[in-house]
Amino acid sequence: MNDKKLKKDDFFVKMEVAGLALTYDDVRLKSGFSEVDPGLVSIKTKFSKNITLNCPVVSAAMDTVTEEEMAIAMAKLGGLGIIHKALTPEVQASQVRRVKLHLNGLIDKPIFVNEEDSIGAIEKLRNEKNYRFHTFPVVNSDGKLAGILTRTDFLHCSDNTSLAKDVMTPIGKILTAPAGTTLEQAHKIMNDAKKGVLPLINEKNELAGVYTFADVSRLLKGTASLYNTDKDGHLRVGAAIGTGDDALVRAGLLSEAGCDVLVIDTAHGDSKNVYTTLKTIKEKYPKIDVVVGNVSEGESAKRLVDAGADGVKVGQGPGSICTTRIVAGIGCPQVTAVYNCAKALRGTGIPVCADGGITTSGDIPIALGAGADCVMLGRMLAGTEETPGEVRDTPDGRIKMYRGMGSLGAMQSSRASRERYRQGDAAIDKLVPEGVEGFVTYQGKVSDVLHKYIGGLRSGMGYVGADSVSTLQEKADFHRITHSGLRESHPHDILQ
Ligand code: XMP
Repeated sequence: MNDKKLKKDDFFVKMEVAGLALTYDDVRLKSGFSEVDPGLVSIKTKFSKNITLNCPVVSAAMDTVTEEEMAIAMAKLGGLGIIHKALTPEVQASQVRRVKLHLNGLIDKPIFVNEEDSIGAIEKLRNEKNYRFHTFPVVNSDGKLAGILTRTDFLHCSDNTSLAKDVMTPIGKILTAPAGTTLEQAHKIMNDAKKGVLPLINEKNELAGVYTFADVSRLLKGTASLYNTDKDGHLRVGAAIGTGDDALVRAGLLSEAGCDVLVIDTAHGDSKNVYTTLKTIKEKYPKIDVVVGNVSEGESAKRLVDAGADGVKVGQGPGSICTTRIVAGIGCPQVTAVYNCAKALRGTGIPVCADGGITTSGDIPIALGAGADCVMLGRMLAGTEETPGEVRDTPDGRIKMYRGMGSLGAMQSSRASRERYRQGDAAIDKLVPEGVEGFVTYQGKVSDVLHKYIGGLRSGMGYVGADSVSTLQEKADFHRITHSGLRESHPHDILQ
């Protein structure tokens, strides 16, 4: 969005003059003339400069919210999961790798065989490794692609001692494409040539990946078209890192595992050690987006973007399990914080993620209307099947644990959580918690839960007359409401 004056600016100026900072329950969006069908609005947006979302929801980097199962589910719903950092760097990277391998778009490191291998030896390898496929690129002693073996070649080979080079279809007779061919291009090439496999080769004729028609067409069809995937058709995933040496180790392992976006996840993003880590990571891994947080003032957001952040996460203390504002006395109510940060970043093209404090689906259009490009949810997703942790049966119903990363339990079990609250070196009995531990009601599948939240967002966009997230950001204007207004907004005066 450019830096032209928006409808809501006058509202927030008046609030500032009155010395007021507001949160979700303090405001409602103004409805207006609408030709918009809620079912048809576009909810595509961005989490960072280069990471798009098909749905503006990101799951929180918390140990009771996002590990690989949630990250896979979120990406399949068009959003994104940020795998938390209260895991060793190795385990966190292996979770990222599993998300990336969940769907096969481009198989960038295909299993290949050598042209001098016998068919018997290749069959043996298949059985030993439990490979369910029969398509093997064949390379020569120089590492160049020499041909390809398919199921048909194995079927018609009566002599197991035959060599791959005598049974394969040689390079001159197979369809290949250059490295960098996209999923859509690969689909067209294979479709036009009626081929099931497409090896990619680099300028030295070395194998650079393989597409299979079955995988590619599945990815481009039906609900899979909503999946949040990278250019090779793999699900997108993000991972949290902290600051200092641990962050650099994680950044190395995570980028090697194919992580799409790193999130420098701290309680105070506008801190010297965050800037140092951001600078080092941007220099060492220039291709990977880095989102930084959390902040709650416009100046802080601007400073982070000037320092190279590809996205800014806003929210200091609004979360359902947060006690930062009570313990430390700092913070800005979330709607004003989001507005001020988004306003400070107008014209930069850097997205804002509203993190924490969202309690109803109606808060999502409010967050986006205030200027956020997407929201991060903790509590609203914590009770779903895909979060880490067991479902407990209690006399009051089924529940799951949900805790702040600055709670005593989370800080005692992980140094990364202690570092988020700048207590990395504190003795365990001297920790000062900035969060609490609790439980939430079990809610079933995240797809069902998110469907309701997105239904609310779509409806809100319909009332405002906004057919896209950017139009919502432009058109949104607010009423400030009182306690009576809030009471009136909820069901009231009936027997339920
Ligand atoms: P919700 O409201 O969605 O908030 O549950 C999730 C966000 O809260 C932040 N977070 C914390 N903030 N103390 C805090 O002050 C904590 O212990 C804590 N744990 C998580 C975090 O930004 C998350 O996305």
